[in-house]
Amino acid sequence: MNLKDLYIDYFKKLDHKQIPSSPVVPENDPSVLFNTAGMQPLIPYLMGEAHPYGKRLVDYQKCIRTNDLDSVGDSTHHTFFEMLGNWSLGDYFKEESITYSFNFLTKVLNIPVDKLAVTVFKGNDLIDFDSVSYNKWVSLGIKPSRIAKTTLDNFWIAGETGPCGPDTEIFYFRGENVPEEFDLNDSRWVEIWNNVFMQYNKDASGNITELPKKNVDTGMGVERVTAILEGVDDNYLSSIFKDVISLISSISNLDYKGNEKSMRIIADHLRTAVFIAADPASIKPSNTDQGYILRRLIRRAIRHAKILNIDIQSNWEVLIATLILDKYKTYYKELEDNYQVVLDVITNEKIKFNRTLEKGLKEFNKVSDKDIDKTTAFHLYDTYGFPIELTIELANEKNLNVDVEGFNEMFKAHQELSRTASAGKFKGGLAGDSEVETKYHTATHLLNAALKKIVSDTVHQKGSNITTERMRFDFSCDHKLSDEEKLEVEKLVNKWIEDALEVEKLEMKKEDAIKSGAECMFIEKYPDIVSVYKIGDVSSELCGGPHVKNTSELGHFKIVKEEASSSGVRRIKAILE
Ligand code: ALA
Repeated sequence: MNLKDLYIDYFKKLDHKQIPSSPVVPENDPSVLFNTAGMQPLIPYLMGEAHPYGKRLVDYQKCIRTNDLDSVGDSTHHTFFEMLGNWSLGDYFKEESITYSFNFLTKVLNIPVDKLAVTVFKGNDLIDFDSVSYNKWVSLGIKPSRIAKTTLDNFWIAGETGPCGPDTEIFYFRGENVPEEFDLNDSRWVEIWNNVFMQYNKDASGNITELPKKNVDTGMGVERVTAILEGVDDNYLSSIFKDVISLISSISNLDYKGNEKSMRIIADHLRTAVFIAADPASIKPSNTDQGYILRRLIRRAIRHAKILNIDIQSNWEVLIATLILDKYKTYYKELEDNYQVVLDVITNEKIKFNRTLEKGLKEFNKVSDKDIDKTTAFHLYDTYGFPIELTIELANEKNLNVDVEGFNEMFKAHQELSRTASAGKFKGGLAGDSEVETKYHTATHLLNAALKKIVSDTVHQKGSNITTERMRFDFSCDHKLSDEEKLEVEKLVNKWIEDALEVEKLEMKKEDAIKSGAECMFIEKYPDIVSVYKIGDVSSELCGGPHVKNTSELGHFKIVKEEASSSGVRRIKAILE
């Protein structure tokens, strides 16, 4: 059995229910581009809502972190990874959680106790030293010299606000002769598991309050731990990537040794691209948000394929993506369902990028009658996707200089700008969901129902995005809405608001929900037991919430724009005043 199966199996035996992995693009949460941790889709439940599966949960969750995309190329960084997690929602707490983790590592994975070390929360002005965790570790046989008490790294929160708490991290020593003293600065100690004791909530003004329940949230990275278990110190040589690297090596006719960086980038970026393109959110390469990340990943993979002298016109990308799809499709059904979509997305982007590259070469020929200054080098990078290495290579052929230093400065400034922009995106998450956004969630259900009544009962939701300023709703429809239709839809939604309809949350079996006719966008992603939000008798939809209690809370609904989104899909932007 592989690590994923062992983990799920172990926690199932400890009465945990397995929950399906959520999509990589979070629904109803526009403040983050991607799920970055296993706990992200569980935020409402960590905040106190009852989970339909109960109090003990386990899963493997697809995660994407792009904040250090440029670090990919070394032996440990990835943009996509799978996180194993087990949760207690107000059930067991520190001692059981630590015991479960310890037994899994030492009895199931057979890791010698002597290879392990842990950190515990030292305490600060607000929260006491975590003596419970400390004593538990000692009682299990971890020597005090292998327990580090820290504060900074031992308080975990996803972003700025939301459920949080002190944690205890488990480390593994990579190497022979384990030193007696656990030294956090010694990079041979690698973190393998993080157990967070989520008993607090942090709000936007920084106040920390107790949550209704004491929860446990844990996270273990599949890629890292698999490499450790297989005794390799390069994650790309573990069973997770080995075959992909071999394939890239055979396509390029080059050895991995000496070409590690480019091969790792191709393997990592195409794997992430496969998962983004297969997501139910139907992301396509573009210049904004998730689409932009998808574009960057595919283009960077192509650039590195060029560095390896792979014939870009050949079907190299299809071969690699196919191998990745086949490796993961038994764990993730959406890969099977969207198999061809994924391959088309990657190939189409390749074709597009190739065209830009050709234009870029023409541009280069135009500007290369003199040395290349920093602005020109940056323009080639920014507009035509020219890596600086390519500009230097072409300039060398013409005996021209390139202002590389100036380029690097501009590049850094640009990166900081996009990092700040994306940091903004990662703040908050669902936990930051304001009252306004909750209102828009409910208004979205009303709009969906009104469109069905006024426009056509074949209208179906194709997407939704909510900010504190507005709601956006994409739906299947073969025509531009007339002014009259828009007016009628508005009127009906406002009538339902005035009717002060009650919003009810029902829990039922997925098949019963479908039978009852509840609306649902991505049926495959829901667990067997689902929440259905019912608004009076006008709307019934599968949804994770949150919603207002009564439609009278919504105010006045107004459509501000109706436009085409893509073929056969219209988009409405609306506000609540
Ligand atoms: N949520 C915790 C983490 O991501 C477990 O480290």
